[in-house]
Amino acid sequence: MAQRIDGKIVAAEITAKTAAAAAELKRETGVTAGLAVVLVGEDPASQVYVASKSRTAKECGFHSLQYTLDATTAERDVLHQIAELNSDPLVHGILVQLPLPAHIDAGKVIQAISPDKDVDGFHHINVGRLGAGDIKSAFVPCTPAGSMILIERVRGRDLSGLNAVVVGRSNIVGKPMANLLLAANATVTIAHSKTKDLPAVCRNADILVAAVGRPEMIRGDWVKPGATVIDVGINRVAAPEKGEGKTRLVGDVAFAEAEAMAGAITPVPGGVGPMTIAMLMANTLVSAARAAGREPPRF
Ligand code: GUN
Repeated sequence: MAQRIDGKIVAAEITAKTAAAAAELKRETGVTAGLAVVLVGEDPASQVYVASKSRTAKECGFHSLQYTLDATTAERDVLHQIAELNSDPLVHGILVQLPLPAHIDAGKVIQAISPDKDVDGFHHINVGRLGAGDIKSAFVPCTPAGSMILIERVRGRDLSGLNAVVVGRSNIVGKPMANLLLAANATVTIAHSKTKDLPAVCRNADILVAAVGRPEMIRGDWVKPGATVIDVGINRVAAPEKGEGKTRLVGDVAFAEAEAMAGAITPVPGGVGPMTIAMLMANTLVSAARAAGREPPRF
């Protein structure tokens, strides 16, 4: 039976380390790390995420700002808000919660964020730095950065000789995840919906990262015995066994089956999910340390 990788515990460690580093930065330089979160509209899931990000920022001792803009806000007004935050010296991290309303070009908004404050790691400058293997200067997107820390806890920092398979090729998870694994010397395959014989490709993985957004798609017999399985998926499915109209969260991996094969596996919920917010805090602290001319801690 696989070791369960507890993301809640690791995320709490990262958040505590961030809070300690933020206190030290403030003591030594007078700089308080600042995070601004921008939410446009009233998407309920986004409201929950944003509230959680703001709360954790306060727990870390950050200057935490939240801008909630009406769903009908014009794109130019969102861009104006970003421009103000870009030039605000008290703000070190800017996050625009996605998705944005359909009348706003999300790409344009994200590329308007200063690369030096892009704690989501979505600006093309940071995408390019990560792609070039310059991880030290890049802001790395939070979900793959958190997944990588969980992998390190099991496999160490050097993945030489190991095969890693990332299922999913999104810009937010799949592609940056593959670049992180490559930078750690893994031999990396990116698989996706057009991949031939996906089960066979997965069976080759010493490290298997599932980021497809399809509930329990990856079955137990796709998992190589002893593999490290990282499940990025968070899917809400019907749970009639809990009562009428009830739901539960499942990952992209059929957990019970995969747990019987894997060496280590992340649960859903409680695996990768908690790491995402923790890494947002870590990225913000790194940004503040850089702005103060200090060497940031390594997470
Ligand atoms: N919406 C869902 N996940 C994310 C994320 O990681 N960053 C942003 N900005 N929005 C999101």
